Amino acid sequence: MAEIVKAAEAAVKTAGTKAKKPVKKAGGMKKPDPAAVIPEPRRKICFVGSECFPFIKTGGLGDVMYALPRALIRQNCDVRVIMPRYECIPEKFQRQMKFLGEFNMDLCADGREFYVGILESELDGIVYYFIDNQEFFSWGNPYTDLVKDIPKYCYFDKAVLAVLNYLEWIPDIIHCHDWQTGLVPVYLRTLFAGTPVGSAKSIITIHNLRFQGIYNVPTIQYWSGLPGYAFDYTTLKQGYEDASMFKGGLAYANLITTVSETYAEEIQTPFYGDGLDSHLRHHSGKLHGIVNGIDVEIWNPRTDSCLKTNYSYRTVLKKKREDKLALQKRLGLEENEDKFVIGLVSRLTDQKGLDLVNAVLAEFLDGNTQFVVLGTGEARYEDSFRGWASAHPESVSATIAYADDLSHQIYAGADAFLVPSLFEPCGLTQLIAMHYGTVPIVRETGGLKDTVMPYNEFTDEGNGFTFDRYEAGLLLDAVIRAKTVYFTERDRWNEIVVRDMKKDVSWENSARQYHDLYLQLT
Ligand code: ADP
Ligand code: GLC
Repeated sequence: MAEIVKAAEAAVKTAGTKAKKPVKKAGGMKKPDPAAVIPEPRRKICFVGSECFPFIKTGGLGDVMYALPRALIRQNCDVRVIMPRYECIPEKFQRQMKFLGEFNMDLCADGREFYVGILESELDGIVYYFIDNQEFFSWGNPYTDLVKDIPKYCYFDKAVLAVLNYLEWIPDIIHCHDWQTGLVPVYLRTLFAGTPVGSAKSIITIHNLRFQGIYNVPTIQYWSGLPGYAFDYTTLKQGYEDASMFKGGLAYANLITTVSETYAEEIQTPFYGDGLDSHLRHHSGKLHGIVNGIDVEIWNPRTDSCLKTNYSYRTVLKKKREDKLALQKRLGLEENEDKFVIGLVSRLTDQKGLDLVNAVLAEFLDGNTQFVVLGTGEARYEDSFRGWASAHPESVSATIAYADDLSHQIYAGADAFLVPSLFEPCGLTQLIAMHYGTVPIVRETGGLKDTVMPYNEFTDEGNGFTFDRYEAGLLLDAVIRAKTVYFTERDRWNEIVVRDMKKDVSWENSARQYHDLYLQLT
């Protein structure tokens, strides 16, 4: 505790000055390569988000909250992460958390007070702060329904700034992620403007505009305790009687980023803008698209301990088949390396293009093809995939669960990987698939368009098979094109596999772009 306070004091003293030494020595951090260290003053960046691997992950946001800070450390940033201490974080992580302090914070319009506990954990050189309050964070899942989630994230957003003041660790930039952190930039410029943390700049990253934290104005105004002027049409107010927490964050943040260039364009149109397209057009001067990467240490087919056989781009053509056979065996499918195995790992929601899959799945099953799905989500999709699997047990497998190890085995064991999304801000699964030599079949939207170059049979270029309009027939056509190359031109297929494995899908490039934005802001 004393050590933390000292570190925090040091942080305050060096805030805003060109600090030569990192404020807090991160134990276990690998020694930076002197040649790789960038000579600018070290920026202090606070990541704020509602999920973060390995503590809690429901989708790609959790991956980004884990991997991007690591990549930013290599860009000479001091990054710390703040997230809720959910009761559903596995016990082994809970046990490693150290208690740093506690206080009461007024939250609501009537001054109702809530307990704020602060815990800390350090993992591979990154400091994580967890905000503790059992009233808000004791559900089995991070997200429940808006009736609970609106108060929960109003509380979290205000507590984040109160905790930074309490710890006296004042970042240069507070980097917020998705609607759950939407009120952080609003609080920063209103209730916290005159406090130490008020000197920080804020960035908000849109991972998915579909979810915004929309509720009626009186409820959000009550729970947030924010002043009335924050609820006009240019800030939080949305429609006749609602407020959108995301909209407020986008208005008040110094910069907005989203997770691909194409999605940055798309969300300024009515179809993809989810009611915020004109708001985003208004703020387009501060909107940037930076494509996600993947953590190539976690997602590494050469070392992945979930795989039966490890492989690299040099050995993939010989060894990947062993992972295919192991996958077929695990899932009870016919064990036959000549089958074309199509994988799908996804949240089962309407975002992911599953209606298209259901419409043409019968056509996939020509006796040479197997289909493997792993996911959880809406009952209608869970049930339909279960139905397909029980009708065709030798060629369709549906695992309705969240299973990290199986996901790795699908990325390695499948030949092709399906991502036919209606919209896809970035998408990580196609990146992971390519890194495992599994050829993506995707719809040309958002980050899918930016990361999967369509295969061109005349020039022999490209990483996968794509289709443009949201139509089942076009998805089927893309699958047939992929199968035709697989079954009739195996050499060309193999070239795509190797090309995909060699493609740079790491965070390095994109982390550099975030770093440039941080420098631009400070
Ligand atoms: P989104 O964030 O929209 O869900 P992404 O493609 O960005 O989509 O990220 C999804 C992440 O969640 C990937 O790491 C993927 O492997 C993982 N994932 C999704 N569903 C499951 C599941 N049922 N079991 C294991 N991992 C899953
Ligand atoms: C979201 C998006 C997904 C993106 C992920 C991480 O959940 O749906 O496309 O890859 O966030 O940014």
